[in-house]
Amino acid sequence: MTGHVVVTGGASGIGAAVVDRLCERGHAVTVWDLAQPAREDVGHGELDVTDADAVAAALREAEQERGVVRHLVTSHGIRGAFVPALELEPAGVLRMLDVHVVGTLLAATALTRRLVELDDTRGASVVTLSSTTAYRGWVNQSDYGVAKAAVRQLTENLAIEWAGLGIRVNAVAPGHTLTPMVQDMIDDGYDVGPVETRTPLGRLCAPREMAAEIVHLLLDASFTTGVCVPVDGGWTAVGK
Ligand SMILES: NC(=O)c1ccc[n+]([C@@H]2O[C@H](COP(=O)([O-])OP(=O)(O)OC[C@H]3O[C@@H](n4cnc5c(N)ncnc54)[C@H](O)[C@@H]3O)[C@@H](O)[C@H]2O)c1
Repeated sequence: MTGHVVVTGGASGIGAAVVDRLCERGHAVTVWDLAQPAREDVGHGELDVTDADAVAAALREAEQERGVVRHLVTSHGIRGAFVPALELEPAGVLRMLDVHVVGTLLAATALTRRLVELDDTRGASVVTLSSTTAYRGWVNQSDYGVAKAAVRQLTENLAIEWAGLGIRVNAVAPGHTLTPMVQDMIDDGYDVGPVETRTPLGRLCAPREMAAEIVHLLLDASFTTGVCVPVDGGWTAVGK
């Protein structure tokens, strides 16, 4: 069965690959992003996901244009400052938490609130974007990694609260995936060589590989809720 899916951050990287995969499967898609999506066959709500009123208005507009939204992927995000905790600026940390945690919460609750209104919750689902940096301690990740750990926690909380409505909520925890966000870090001098060496599969992930797992969790994994799946080439499985 096909339906209408909103993809936040769907104009770039992992989100854009999710949009491609959903379109291949015949779904109607609306992108919510600060930027314009490259595809012309999808809807676009140009918004900041931290703006609750904009999110609510965009959901109404998306529903009018392409029908009720019953699935959501929250793939918006910003990169961390990548500096030691002692050098973090409070305003940057707050923005990091706002975009990743509050933005994910606002998009997900807007969807569920509307489906409750319509009494049409059964079979709906959400996939959020956490990160391998959400597991254990990482240097230079006290802004981004902490925000991603909060997204993982939020995913579990929403999954438990909404399971009775028949709404599944899951997360993926990507390892390094070659998107504009990571390319930006590389351009700033970040060396991915050690990452490839430490990764058992020995390379970075391609966005389409990440999208495959996200769409599986979103549409096919009907008895899976409250999990955070590392899609990391074995990174989190390494013991030493
Ligand atoms: N690429 C990786 O290696 C990696 C690893 C772990 C987690 N992630 C997560 O995956 C998600 C996608 O990352 P990506 O690498 O595709 O990044 P990307 O930079 O290629 O795409 C992110 C998109 O989010 C949009 N965006 C940013 N802030 C927004 C806001 N406030 N409101 C609406 N849209 C906003 C941007 O405009 C952009 O189109 C992010 O949540 C990121 O943290 C990525």
